[in-house]
Amino acid sequence: MNSEEDSHVVEYIRLFLPSSPHSSVVFYGFYLFPFKMCTRKTLPAEMISRNNFSVWSILKKCIGMELSKIAMPVVFNEPLSFLQRISEYMEHTHLIHKACSLSDSLDRMQVVAAFAVSAVASQWERTGKPFNPLLGETYELIREDDGYRLISEQVSHHPPVSAFHAESLKQEFEFHGSIYPKLKFWGKSVEAEPKGTMTLELLKHKEAYTWTNPMCCVHNIILGKLWIEQYGTVEIVNHSTGDKCVLNFKPCGMFGKELHRVEGHIQDKSKKKRRVIYGKWTECMYSVDPKVYDSYKKSDKKTTGETKKLKQVSDEHSCEGEEADEMPEVQETVTVIPGSALLWRITPRPPHSAEMYNFTSYAMTLNELEPGMDRLLAPTDCRLRPDIRAMENGDIDAASVEKERLEEKQRASRRERSKDEEDWSNRWFQQGTNPHTGAEDWLYTGGYFDRNYTDCPNIY
Ligand SMILES: *[C@@H]1O[C@H](CO)[C@@H](O)[C@H](O)[C@H]1NC(C)=O
Ligand SMILES: *[C@@H]1O[C@H](CO)[C@@H](O)[C@H](O)[C@H]1NC(C)=O
Ligand SMILES: *[C@@H]1O[C@H](CO)[C@@H](O)[C@H](O)[C@H]1NC(C)=O
Ligand SMILES: *[C@@H]1O[C@H](CO)[C@@H](O)[C@H](O)[C@H]1NC(C)=O
Repeated sequence: MNSEEDSHVVEYIRLFLPSSPHSSVVFYGFYLFPFKMCTRKTLPAEMISRNNFSVWSILKKCIGMELSKIAMPVVFNEPLSFLQRISEYMEHTHLIHKACSLSDSLDRMQVVAAFAVSAVASQWERTGKPFNPLLGETYELIREDDGYRLISEQVSHHPPVSAFHAESLKQEFEFHGSIYPKLKFWGKSVEAEPKGTMTLELLKHKEAYTWTNPMCCVHNIILGKLWIEQYGTVEIVNHSTGDKCVLNFKPCGMFGKELHRVEGHIQDKSKKKRRVIYGKWTECMYSVDPKVYDSYKKSDKKTTGETKKLKQVSDEHSCEGEEADEMPEVQETVTVIPGSALLWRITPRPPHSAEMYNFTSYAMTLNELEPGMDRLLAPTDCRLRPDIRAMENGDIDAASVEKERLEEKQRASRRERSKDEEDWSNRWFQQGTNPHTGAEDWLYTGGYFDRNYTDCPNIY
């Protein structure tokens, strides 16, 4: 090992030290060191072609069933656990930092809205299925450059529920939630309803925002080109005032005019529109004054001679039906209304992304295992899962064998527990009430970063 690598490992280990008030002082003392952790640009191997596999033979018996009950061949996966996939919500954490820094509450709300959209942008063209986490599986992510750390845990197996908790390294925000990805197979497509609430707390402003992610549909899983659509209404509520932002993720509609489009507004508690938000979840989001927006739309209609009333399509269930759905051509990018302010723009995918499950640069790093890291991670961390590791290395057969072994091990320990009448208890999260919505949620009990993992289950 050369000395450059040495100092890299030392820096890395420093990040993993227990979080006592004293160590965090040391921690920030090293803030300016050039970090090289989790910076790989590609995966170790390209993805394996799925052309030779017939999904139809597996799925034709399962129409209308919940997909979590159907065993799919590993080749349709991507080499990430669902726990790693949800940590992609944090890719645009700079927006949370920005929201924290703004003094005007309306400005904060629109940046939070942009964050909520950006959090689901990594779904674009990602048709690989993440691995189902095993009960007790965890994932941690420390990003000093983005100023946060995150811990997640699979807290329930049936139904599959993943809980996560992210916090700023400087106590500026907390972002947490639990997700039950309810998957339905519709014959030609798979629909995912991400049940569960996202809660963002801006500590300095004593504000909490909550929302639920939009529906997601993967089209043409049997025939034709796979493509992804997100749709539904996302309401971001400021619980201090009852003010909210209503965002409509539009279904693509008959001619694809609405593909990827998101439109909405921020309203105060008297329902007065304060700001219009528009854009595409695959590209960018803008905000504009409602009066400017309305007059622009009026003049736009005049010039295009459009008189027909637009059909209301927002409730259309575009996931059902029998024929293959061609993905409509993307007709235009976002037309910017003069006077709009840019809230967010997507980070372009790296050039080799198409051969690597369409991962973003951020996703490429999530399963990276740095030298020395395995000794510091909890033994339940996804990075130590052998099936995901094998798939990442391009060894699909080993991935299948390992996946089956892990699932059998999980079943065996469930049988053991029921024989001994033992209950499973989660290590880092507890079922409780979300203080802002009053709904049932999973809350972080703390202590993960003290790095005492003696009680962690042996799941791999
Ligand atoms: C998969 O199909 C391609 C042609 O489409 C063929 O060249 C290749 O040998 C096949 N691979 C396997 C493992 O069957
Ligand atoms: C959210 O609630 C806080 C606290 O009451 C309030 O000051 C702020 O105006 C609200 N923000 C928005 C965008 O409604
Ligand atoms: C990646 O995106 C391309 C272009 O849309 C698509 O054809 C392909 O199926 C995607 N691959 C995966 C693994 O999702
Ligand atoms: C770690 O946790 C175990 C059980 O929770 C406890 O018995 C032990 O004392 C702890 N070790 C340290 C070093 O704190």
